[in-house]
Amino acid sequence: MVKRYSFDPFINTGAVVREVPLSSSEPKPFSLSNGVFSLHMDEHMRIYGLGESIRGINKRGWIYESWCSDDPFHTEEKRSLYGAHNFLLFDGEERFGAFFDIPGRITFDLGYTDSDTVVITPERFALDLYIITGESLKAIVSEFRTLIGKSYLPPMWAMGYGQSRWGYVTEADIRRCADAYRDARIPLDMLYLDIDYMDSFKDFTVNSERFPDLGAFSAEMKERGIRLIPIIDAAVKKESGYDVYDEGHREGYFCKDEQGEDFVVGVWPGMSVLPDFLNPQASRWFGMKYKRLTDLGIEGFWNDMNEPALFYSEKGLNNAYKEIKELDSKRLDALSFFGVRDTLVRLQNAEDDYKSFYHETPEGRVRHYDVHNLYGYRMTESAYNALCELRGEPPLLFSRASYIGAHRCGGVWTGDNHSWWSHILQSLQQMPGLNMCGFLYSGSDIGGFNGNCTRDLLIRWMSFALFTPLMRNHAAFGTRSQEAFAFGDTEVFRHIIELRYRLIPYLYRSLKEAVERDEMYFRPLVFDYEDDEIAATVEDQLMVGDRLMIAPVYRQNAAARHIYLPEPMTQIRMHEGDISTEELNEGWHYVSVPLGDVVFYTKSPLELAKPARNVGELNFDDTETVGS
Ligand code: GLC
Repeated sequence: MVKRYSFDPFINTGAVVREVPLSSSEPKPFSLSNGVFSLHMDEHMRIYGLGESIRGINKRGWIYESWCSDDPFHTEEKRSLYGAHNFLLFDGEERFGAFFDIPGRITFDLGYTDSDTVVITPERFALDLYIITGESLKAIVSEFRTLIGKSYLPPMWAMGYGQSRWGYVTEADIRRCADAYRDARIPLDMLYLDIDYMDSFKDFTVNSERFPDLGAFSAEMKERGIRLIPIIDAAVKKESGYDVYDEGHREGYFCKDEQGEDFVVGVWPGMSVLPDFLNPQASRWFGMKYKRLTDLGIEGFWNDMNEPALFYSEKGLNNAYKEIKELDSKRLDALSFFGVRDTLVRLQNAEDDYKSFYHETPEGRVRHYDVHNLYGYRMTESAYNALCELRGEPPLLFSRASYIGAHRCGGVWTGDNHSWWSHILQSLQQMPGLNMCGFLYSGSDIGGFNGNCTRDLLIRWMSFALFTPLMRNHAAFGTRSQEAFAFGDTEVFRHIIELRYRLIPYLYRSLKEAVERDEMYFRPLVFDYEDDEIAATVEDQLMVGDRLMIAPVYRQNAAARHIYLPEPMTQIRMHEGDISTEELNEGWHYVSVPLGDVVFYTKSPLELAKPARNVGELNFDDTETVGS
C-alpha cells in the first residue's frame, strides 16, 4: 500500500508514474516538526536503499546527502556521489519504505548523530513523501517500483563484455584493442569511445584526423561483432560557428543567468554552456542531435558530466583572477599561497554557481540549485526518448548522474572509482541499493578508473563483475593499461569472461524478469531469507536472479573466504574453464578460491551456454545444465 503526503512541491520531478491520492493523516511512522522528519529506531532496525550510496548494504549509522556530485574520491566519509536516490527501506518492528521525492538537497541522518534516531532534513521543505507498506521486504520494493514505472531493459548484446579507456585516441588505438582481444580469443561486444573521439571535446562532432570515417569504422567493427559506444558530455562548447552551440544559443536552449544571458562554465571543452534539459523543447532538440552518430551506425551511448560537473564558471574564474592579481602587491607567504590554492579548488562544482543559473520548465522559471538533482536524469531522458524514436527500439544507454525516474531510460555506472581492493566490495554493496531504486542495468569501472590496476586485482574484480549486467573495464587517462590482455597471460581472463558469456542466458533472463515484475536482480540475502538472523548481517554476498548466490573474494592475497549458505546449495566452481559442482549444507563454510577460480552457488539447476566470441554468437538452445 502507498500513502502520499504532499508538502508544497513546486515542480513535478517525473519520478512517479502512478497517481496516488493525497493522504490527510500524519506521515507516520515519521514525526514531523519544523520541516524535519524523525523516527526512533528500535535496536534491531536495519535500513536499506539510497541507491548508489556507499558504506554497507545496511545504511544505519551513517549520514547521507542527496546532491549529485562529480567526486572522484569514493572514500568512506563521502555522503553523496553522482546520484540522488531518495528511497529507504526500514526493517525493524515497523517495516516500511519511504520515498522523498524532492529535486534539491536532502540529508538522511540514519543514526549518525544519535544512534537510535533517524533525522531526515530536506533543505527546502517542498516535496512529496510516499510511505510504502507491504508483506515482505521484496513486496515493499515491488510496490515502490510499480510507483516509479518499469526499469530500462538494454538490448541483449549490452550484456556482453565491454572495454573502455580514456586514452584510446585514434581509430588505430581502438582497432589495436579489438585485435588484441581477438588474438587472445577473449569475447568482446563493445568498445567505448571517450572524449578524445570528438573534435575539441564538442558534442556530436568527430575528430576527422583521428577517425577519418567513423561510419565505415563502426561498420567494420560491427562486422567483427563489436559495437562502438561513444560518450556524450552534458555541456556544449561555447564557440560561434559550432552549429550545436549556435542553434541552441539562438533558440534559447541553454541555462541562463539572472540577467537572461547563457550561463558560462568550464568543462572539458573549456568555456561551455549547459543545455536546459528541464525545458522540453531544449531536451528534444539535444536528443535529436544523437542522430548524427546513429546515422553512422552507433547504437549505444554513455552520458557523462551531467551532475552537471563544473570545473569553474566564467564568473568564478574572473573573481579568482582578481584575487590572485591583488596578491601582486603583497608578499606571497604560505598563508596567501594556501588562500590562492583554496580559491581555485573552490571553483569546482561551487554552490554559488549552481545558484546562479535557471531553467525554463513547464512550471515556469526555476533556479538550478533547487532542482539540481534532476539534471542528469533529464539528460538521460532526452537521449532515451530521441534514440527510441530514431531507432525504433531502446538503445544501450547509461549515465553517471541520475535521479529516480532515470531508471526508466537507462542504466548507471558508479563513476570514477579507484583501483583499490576496497572498491570491489564497495561496488557489490552499491548494487542492491541501485536495484531497489530501479537501476538494474548497472556496474562499476572494472579494475578501477583512477590509479593503477594490478593483475590480481583485475582478476578478482572481474570474478565479481561478471555478474553485473553492465560489465565494462574502464580506466583514466595516464593510468596503467588494464585490459584483459595487459598483464601477459590472457588465459585466466579468457576463462572468466567466457564464463560471463556462458551465464548470459540466465543473467539476461533474470534481468528481463526483474524489469517485467518490478523486482530486484541483485538482492541482499535477507530479502530472500527474512527469518534468518545471520543472513541479515551478511554484507558481502548477494542473490542474483531467482537462484544464484555470489560470494566473491575482494581482499588482496586471500585465497579462501567464509561464505554463509541460508539453505543447502550447489557450489559451482570454474577452474581453468572447467566447471565442477559440489553439494553444500546450509551454514558457514570456509571455501578455497584460488586466484582465477570463480566460485558461486545455485539453489536449483542452472543452464550454461557454450562459450561464444560475442553475444550474437551465443546459442541459447545449446545449453548444459549444472547443479541439482
Ligand atoms: C569523467 C568520467 C570518466 C571519463 C572522463 C573523461 O571523469 O567519469 O568515465 O573517462 O570523464 O571523459
